Amino acid sequence: MTSVPSRERLRPHWLPTGWFQVGWSSDFPAQGVRPLRYLGGDQVAYRDSSGTLHVLDAYCRHLGGNLAYGGYVENDCVVCPFHGWHWNAEGRNTHIPYQPDRPNRARTLKVWPVREELGVVYMWHDVEGREPAWEPPNIFTDVAPHTAPLEYYDAERVKFDGLTLHPQLVSENAADPMHFRFVHGARDFPVYLRLWQDDAHYFSQIGFGRKWREMEPDSHDGDTLSILVAGVGLDYTALSGSSNTLILLSTTPVDAGTSDMFQTVWLEKLPGDNPEMHSTRLDQAISQLPNDIAIWTHQRFEDPPALATVEGRALGEFRRWARTFYPESADAVSL
Ligand code: FES
Ligand SMILES: [Fe+2]
Repeated sequence: MTSVPSRERLRPHWLPTGWFQVGWSSDFPAQGVRPLRYLGGDQVAYRDSSGTLHVLDAYCRHLGGNLAYGGYVENDCVVCPFHGWHWNAEGRNTHIPYQPDRPNRARTLKVWPVREELGVVYMWHDVEGREPAWEPPNIFTDVAPHTAPLEYYDAERVKFDGLTLHPQLVSENAADPMHFRFVHGARDFPVYLRLWQDDAHYFSQIGFGRKWREMEPDSHDGDTLSILVAGVGLDYTALSGSSNTLILLSTTPVDAGTSDMFQTVWLEKLPGDNPEMHSTRLDQAISQLPNDIAIWTHQRFEDPPALATVEGRALGEFRRWARTFYPESADAVSL
């Protein structure tokens, strides 16, 4: 175990524990094999004959062939393109074609826990190899249950590859509403209406404008923004008001300094909607993210930060909460 000073642990160049998005369900075809490169490693993803998606470390334990390049699915195993060894969903070797009576029982491939929810594919990462401690949220039931009777369009997707940023910078947005005026052109300063956290989640709801009273979510009925952060890197946002928009913003580390971002947007179907109105609302929903990215990709993680009094409570609590996702035994990775 490497022990590190607590100050170092706050620096966001570590790979946090949690669920991370590695694609959308349709990226992984039936009985297909795909390479992934996330969280400091190479993985192979494959769907078995029942449609279940599996993710294993990519390098065959025989002679290190990459299973994701030329590998294929047979008998619910991924077969190495190099010498045909079969690896099952538990990461075990089940068949060696030229030694069929004696598979190798000693060598195993690391298995990455996978979940698929609402067409989003998540992979669990924990540097200490612990099993998942929570489940990825469902944005409809966990973030916007009040919109349950409403109808939504199919999800729209946008992906940004290889950005020089860390998920902590992105997830901190949940505790940094002041940036909306400067980065997104909001007219009013925000007011916190709700704040809570538990082991896996940090939640904030904000309203814009003077009619809202601090921490009184029933004090007005204007537009609100709710953000549920699940681990460091999954940000579920509900924009509620005259229409409802739900956005999952996922930031998945490729390595300690680079991340891919996935944006999934669900727009409410409004009465009388036409394709033009729909595309205008979609543009509004997705047009703001590049403004944030321009900040994040050049930002330094200021630790400790200098906070104005009104920012202190939420951002301070967020930083303390986020710290718990960086296991103490993790090795430091220099940027
Ligand atoms: S390297 Fe995979 S079977 Fe030989
Ligand atoms: Fe933002």
